[in-house]
Amino acid sequence: MFFLKGLSGRLLILTILFVMLAELLIWAPSISRFRKSYLEDRIAKGQIATLALEATPDYMVSRDLEDRLLYHAEVYAVAVNTHERRVLALSKTMPPAVDVTFDLRETMFPTWIGDAVSALLRTDNRVMRVIGYSAKDPGVAIEVVLDEAPMRKAMLAFSTRILQLSIAISLFTAGLVYFSLQWLLVRPMRRITRSMVRFRENPEDESRAIHPSDRSDEIGVAQRELAEMQREIRVALKQKDRLAAVGAAVSKINHDLRNTLATAMLVSDRLADIDDPEVKRVTPRLFDAMDKAVNLCSRTLNYVADTSPKMHRARFALRDLVADVGGTLPPMDGRPFAWDNRVDRAFLVEADRDELFRVFSNLGRNAREAGAARVTIESEERHGRLSVTVADNGPGLPDKARERLFQPFAGSVRRGGTGLGLVIARDILRAHRGDITLLETGPDGTTFRLDLPLME
Ligand SMILES: Nc1ncnc2c1ncn2[C@@H]1O[C@H](COP(=O)(O)OP(=O)(O)OP(=O)(O)O)[C@@H](O)[C@H]1O
Ligand SMILES: [Mg+2]
Repeated sequence: MFFLKGLSGRLLILTILFVMLAELLIWAPSISRFRKSYLEDRIAKGQIATLALEATPDYMVSRDLEDRLLYHAEVYAVAVNTHERRVLALSKTMPPAVDVTFDLRETMFPTWIGDAVSALLRTDNRVMRVIGYSAKDPGVAIEVVLDEAPMRKAMLAFSTRILQLSIAISLFTAGLVYFSLQWLLVRPMRRITRSMVRFRENPEDESRAIHPSDRSDEIGVAQRELAEMQREIRVALKQKDRLAAVGAAVSKINHDLRNTLATAMLVSDRLADIDDPEVKRVTPRLFDAMDKAVNLCSRTLNYVADTSPKMHRARFALRDLVADVGGTLPPMDGRPFAWDNRVDRAFLVEADRDELFRVFSNLGRNAREAGAARVTIESEERHGRLSVTVADNGPGLPDKARERLFQPFAGSVRRGGTGLGLVIARDILRAHRGDITLLETGPDGTTFRLDLPLME
């Protein structure tokens, strides 16, 4: 049954069903029309049979001729009201009792359908009296008496012919639909899916990309979009390769730099012993510079290595975490620095505490490094989520930083800055189904908004 799982197989079945349904809708009026013309035909034959009566002076024929006339008209009895108001009648000697009367002169269309269907559904034979006008002479009313069973047999034969025809038509139509779909949709779709699968197996192999056709329909659009997507992914992969190479290079530099710095440390330890005030003054700065160099290397290295950090989620009060971060941000260069924690005690988050710590610590350090004297952290519930604003009273973001905000290595204008703090903050928040955005910045300060899912 694999065939039916495909798109065209299913459409084939559906087409057959729909055509059959359409044929059924055609069948109902046709069968009722068939029945009507069957009865009209009997009426016409009956009328012709009565013509023999006109040849006789007393409108009588022999019993034998009457029986033969009725036999050929296929009715039990017939009566005709001529214009001269004469009634010409033929009848079997003992005509059967009439079970049901149908008047073709006034029947409406829906009744025809109903009568036809009920005639088909019955199994017994009824004797019908049918009244109608003569086809050639509408003023003449004719009545015939006849059996229903032969009519039903004819109707069944007619229905069978319609059924056979509809099967043939639906198979033919479905076949056409199948092949056109196969041609228009399924084959190109299969090309697309095949290309997707092949591409996924080895995205870097350029020969596996799809060659889009110039079709203008949806398939064409899908092919072109897929080709474009594959191209972009290939470019991104190449970039990633390059970044990985940079990472490897940095880790080597880092390694060598540590060794070099270890040597430098040894040398500067000796510097500490020298009793020269000038040396004593510069030594701490030397240590500091070395520290910074190592720090820069390690942080760059961490960023490159740490593609998807493993999270250790826990539930805790955001206020406590913000307070802890405040504790690690002492005033710098003797300038005052206030960490104003106004986070509501009630707000709980479920997150990796160390990671969120990094976020607030990066924001706090940025503000302090920019020269802010106060950072205010506030929280509120917005649209069912936790919204935290971190606002400082610093000088605002420099233009270059604002343009390249959240781009790794690009946003830093600070000497010694790597331009990773905000990128890392965003990565961490997104991994927590949250985000960070710049709310406003200007000479009066900068405000970032953090958004996180709220815990009940
Ligand atoms: N609160 C702020 N006030 C003014 N400028 C800011 C503020 N926060 C960030 N910046 C500017 O945005 C730049 C990018 O910040 P980011 O934290 O991403 O990198 P960085 O601080 O330079 O380096 P890193 O944090 O990796 O050591 C900073 O160099 C700084 O110029
Ligand atoms: Mg920073």
